[in-house]
Amino acid sequence: MPSSKPNTLDTTAREQKQQKELFMNAAEHINKKLFIPTMLGTARQGRMSEHVARFVLGEIAKRDEVETELIDIRDIPLSMTDAGEAIKNSSFSATIARADALVIVVPEYNHGYPGLLKHLLDTNLKEYIHKAVGLCGVSNGGFGGARVIENLLPVMRELGLVTIFSDVNFSRVLNVFDASGKLLDDVYVKHTDKFLKELIWMAKVLKYGRDKIPQE
Ligand SMILES: Cc1cc2nc3c(=O)[nH]c(=O)nc-3n(C[C@H](O)[C@H](O)[C@H](O)COP(=O)(O)O)c2cc1C
Repeated sequence: MPSSKPNTLDTTAREQKQQKELFMNAAEHINKKLFIPTMLGTARQGRMSEHVARFVLGEIAKRDEVETELIDIRDIPLSMTDAGEAIKNSSFSATIARADALVIVVPEYNHGYPGLLKHLLDTNLKEYIHKAVGLCGVSNGGFGGARVIENLLPVMRELGLVTIFSDVNFSRVLNVFDASGKLLDDVYVKHTDKFLKELIWMAKVLKYGRDKIPQE
């Protein structure tokens, strides 16, 4: 007569197989290249934020595990007589849909964000959901865009983006880059490294969640 007792050896082997599968699944997702575009959030002539965006882009590009590209809001034609998903730009939407996370470089204009940046962000919705976002504030004042970042946080949340608890604040930006865009203060390499580590970690966690954890 067959024993009703479970075979301990079989159970252990089955558990080990399940654990290996879980590990392989997680490793497969964690090791896939992430796509993290960098958005330049102003179209102003002479914008210092362009130097910031190109610097951050370069720091992301140094990481083998991440692919990036510049999204320059100047290059995205948008209707000024409508708003929201009605005026979607297909190329921008495709980039956001492909992205695992976003970096937004945002200058502080009268303590707020440039209207054109908001106009562009508003054109998409589902493309952002459960993706990480990191914010780099830029100002010529001493607060490094801290106020614009605070103002942008509720917008990020409403779009379904997941903010991280690290930003980079480029204060007195006219002293941080020369006219050619050369970085004059190496401390920003360290700040950006810390910021990107946190963003990449969050991007991996959310990618795993989007791919593997069903939503009720
Ligand atoms: C319309 C406008 C409003 C601004 N308001 C602020 C401000 O509230 N606080 C601040 O520190 N700098 C302010 N600035 C200066 C910007 O911080 C400065 O131009 C900086 O270089 C970042 O913006 P940019 O990328 O357009 O150059 C303002 C600039 C503009 C054009």
